[in-house]
Amino acid sequence: MITIYFVNPDNYSDFVSGHLEENQIKEKGFFGKHGQVICLLNNKGCISKVLVGLKIKSDPFWTVASLTHQLPEGLYQFDATFLDKKTLLLFHLAWYLGLYRFDRYKTQIPKKVLLEDHVDLDSNLLHRMVQSINWVRDMINTPAEDCGPKDLELNIKQLAKTFDAQMEVFKGEELIEKGYPLVHAVGRASDRKPRVVNLTWGDESHKSLVLIGKGVCFDTGGLDLKSAVGMRQMKKDMAGAANVIGLANLIMGLQLPIYLKLMIPIVDNNLSANSYRPGDIFTSRNGKTVEIGNTDAEGRLILADVLSAACESDPDLIIDFATLTGNRALGSVVSCFSHDVEMTQELQMVGKTYHDPVWSMPLIKQYSQLFESDIADLVNIPKLVVDCGTATAAMFLNEFVSPKTSWIHCDILGFNPNSLPGRPKGGEAMGLRAFYHFLDIWSRRQ
Ligand code: BES
Ligand code: ZN
Ligand code: ZN
Repeated sequence: MITIYFVNPDNYSDFVSGHLEENQIKEKGFFGKHGQVICLLNNKGCISKVLVGLKIKSDPFWTVASLTHQLPEGLYQFDATFLDKKTLLLFHLAWYLGLYRFDRYKTQIPKKVLLEDHVDLDSNLLHRMVQSINWVRDMINTPAEDCGPKDLELNIKQLAKTFDAQMEVFKGEELIEKGYPLVHAVGRASDRKPRVVNLTWGDESHKSLVLIGKGVCFDTGGLDLKSAVGMRQMKKDMAGAANVIGLANLIMGLQLPIYLKLMIPIVDNNLSANSYRPGDIFTSRNGKTVEIGNTDAEGRLILADVLSAACESDPDLIIDFATLTGNRALGSVVSCFSHDVEMTQELQMVGKTYHDPVWSMPLIKQYSQLFESDIADLVNIPKLVVDCGTATAAMFLNEFVSPKTSWIHCDILGFNPNSLPGRPKGGEAMGLRAFYHFLDIWSRRQ
């Protein structure tokens, strides 16, 4: 086992012993500067220890995440002499975030850099977190061919089985009967049937939470077809669903005192002779009629019905995650909209602590007018050209949430466009750590 020591310019020499190590330090010009890494070799040419220059005060989370790329195969452990318990946990987490590879379709086996848990660690929290984040990433990265409505449903089934939760599924024509007309309209063109999957878990005496996620397995844009560039990444349009599956896995796995309901509308936004069309009007679950201005604004439609359904049980809080606009407002920083600004500001603080950026955003009342239709109650795209699609989309959803229900809407990007330390290119869980730690506090508050 190789120990990794976190050092700085003032103390690095305390970790160097003998001529052999001193020479290597000199040769490589290592002096404990932030981000410097050196593997010290013994006289057999094997790594005896690793020194990593870290300025603890300059928030070195992502620097630790970059280590897995810089180190050769081996079994490592962190020296925790100068780390408090929380930092120790975050360092382990950073390591695992950086280690992730989506290798389902790769025939070569990647190198193995392993980390032994430190004895002082909350291993349960760490590994649940890692497992949840990587599960979310895997679901998003899986091509639509292998992650269709049925496959996404199976992921939720797996969750229900693991935690002995109740599950119900409404599929195809049944969606009309059960009151999900918009989910049906969007999903009806695909031969992979649209569905709403509900999961219920926990003790009814606890605070009640509904998690909703946009589960569009592939978004062609429907008849208002997307461009080739716009469509290229659309396997990720179920990232909202993946995110709430991951969050539910954490809540149940770590047994937060929450009465949890997961409600996930799942569709392919596809083209066929049976596609819903621009100009069509549908009556949504809450009775409001919705004109279709553009079939590519499908996410808000499927969420509308499910948000209304969620409000019917009068929960303490509803949270939805969706790649509604690709989070044009903030990119990889999650946009969190709520009437309860205190709550989203608290979330923002928690997110900062856990290196999972979320930002409190306003629900702007005047934008509701943009969804007035000439011939129906609402239209699904703004009637004027506006350059703030993320904020207006939130106001469309607001039409389907009861004013007395506490609700947070999160627009997420759902993937990393480029690789950064700890954030490999591709599908990404966004806001998961922020929301888990926020809910940990929220669930225990009176
Ligand atoms: N799934 C897309 C949004 C999206 C785009 C997510 C890029 C991730 C990356 C969504 O269904 C969509 O097409 N939204 C449109 C709505 C418009 C037609 C009103 C948008 O935001 O451009
Ligand atoms: Zn779309
Ligand atoms: Zn979409």
